[in-house]
Amino acid sequence: MAVVAIIGAQWGDEGKGKIVDLLAEQARVVVRYQGGTNAGHTIVNQHGTFKMRLIPSGIFNPRIIAVIGNGVVVDPAALLGEMAELEARGIPTNRLLVSERAHVLMPYHALLDQLEETNRAASGQSVGTTKRGIGPAYQDKVARIGIRVGDLVQEETLLSKLSFVLNMKNQLLTKVYGEQPLDLHHIYLQCVDYGHRLRKHILDTHLVIHRALDERHNILLEGAQGALLDIDYGTYPYVTSSSPTAGGACLGAGVPPNAIDNVVGVYKAYCTRVGEGPFPTELEGEQADYLRNQGGEGHREYGTVTGRPRRVGWFDGVAARYVARLNGISGLVITRLDALDDMATIKVCTAYQINDTVVQYMPSDVASLLKAVPIYEELPGWQTPTSSVTEWKELPANARAYLNRLQVLIGARLDIVSVGPDRKQTIMINKPFDALPATVSRYVSTLGDRSAGAKWGGEE
Ligand code: GDP
Ligand code: IMO
Ligand code: MG
Repeated sequence: MAVVAIIGAQWGDEGKGKIVDLLAEQARVVVRYQGGTNAGHTIVNQHGTFKMRLIPSGIFNPRIIAVIGNGVVVDPAALLGEMAELEARGIPTNRLLVSERAHVLMPYHALLDQLEETNRAASGQSVGTTKRGIGPAYQDKVARIGIRVGDLVQEETLLSKLSFVLNMKNQLLTKVYGEQPLDLHHIYLQCVDYGHRLRKHILDTHLVIHRALDERHNILLEGAQGALLDIDYGTYPYVTSSSPTAGGACLGAGVPPNAIDNVVGVYKAYCTRVGEGPFPTELEGEQADYLRNQGGEGHREYGTVTGRPRRVGWFDGVAARYVARLNGISGLVITRLDALDDMATIKVCTAYQINDTVVQYMPSDVASLLKAVPIYEELPGWQTPTSSVTEWKELPANARAYLNRLQVLIGARLDIVSVGPDRKQTIMINKPFDALPATVSRYVSTLGDRSAGAKWGGEE
């Protein structure tokens, strides 16, 4: 039994969905632990191509219990739409569970996200959010005025909480932004309907997860976004409003820190970022256009959620090492190696020069990061296709040398190399559920009988 956390180790879109889908074959439970419909996790497997927003990417394993954890902000309409799409394509969703503690993303959150962005843009301060309402939903959670998923099935509580909060939101919408107020009755009835439709999926998922821990099942924790978008440790304020880190995995799933056996960091073989904010190794012009258009049809560097072109750049070893330390990354996945196949030489940033100083760490402030000039090492390319390689030894020598260099720069063991979007286009070096780090402290649950009584999804 092991608990493996899959963490985005850059600015998101590293290929987490593909890796979770792959590793879910060995798992019993998979938990999405934060974020919301700002995420877009692409999966290509025997069932087709899917872009997951809220539902854990492990749902394709018929044995799996897929949990949307308490740390997620849930847009019920989007969730129901995603469930219907999966069902229509033959993927059952009866084993999907949603934490009653998760917060509901309400219509006013998306509206306020757009208004706040427009407001910030007017003073040149835009964050470039996905405008899905993620920031405003987390604001309400922290302000203790959020509606939780459990409230959707408690109609009286729902009405009282909603009338209070909608009154506040309507004042904000009308008096500050000059917008029309939203209708309480309409939103309430919509929420009641969501509650009815989701009722059998909503429960205290923490108990289910602890039953899985007690019974020593393999558990996969699925992060959204990436550690460099973390609200505390990312490039603040150009971040998301949750914690995509390993710490966030504990809080957002309800798993104690010492229960996590292996923290697997997913890195691209280079870097991308969507939205505003510092990006020291960013490329411009023709080189950027070239890299952005690699990856194959449907998998070029354009946002999964918004379709925005992703900013692209060289691998940033400084940021990568910072993220590895912050999360205690014990295993590495390097994705999209194939995107570099045609390059004659490839650059890797090993340090920053800021003013007259060479620094090996990631500064905490945007002003310093904007001044950071990357110090590059240049490695020879391999100029050979890798997308059908499935064994480490079949990779061109220069590709292996490149990956070994990344491994050393990051300071963690390379477990998986991904050479294409399909589940099969993978080189497995160590299986994260089997090859655990040497110093694992095993978690022993003290919940005993209480978690033993927790129901798996689908049980009556
Ligand atoms: P996520 O948000 O971390 O799950 O990543 P996204 O799905 O947003 O973006 C990653 C993109 O790269 C998707 O189009 C994936 O299908 C694709 N992808 C993942 N791994 C590989 C790979 O090794 N090679 C190529 N060419 N594409 C990949
Ligand atoms: P996945 O899970 C890449 C970025 C947005 C913006 C910032 C804040 O697919 O890796 P938000 O809407 O969260 O308030 O936007 O975060 N962002 C992502 N970038 N991948 C994601 O998710 C992202 N989710 C949010 O572009 O810069
Ligand atoms: Mg994505």
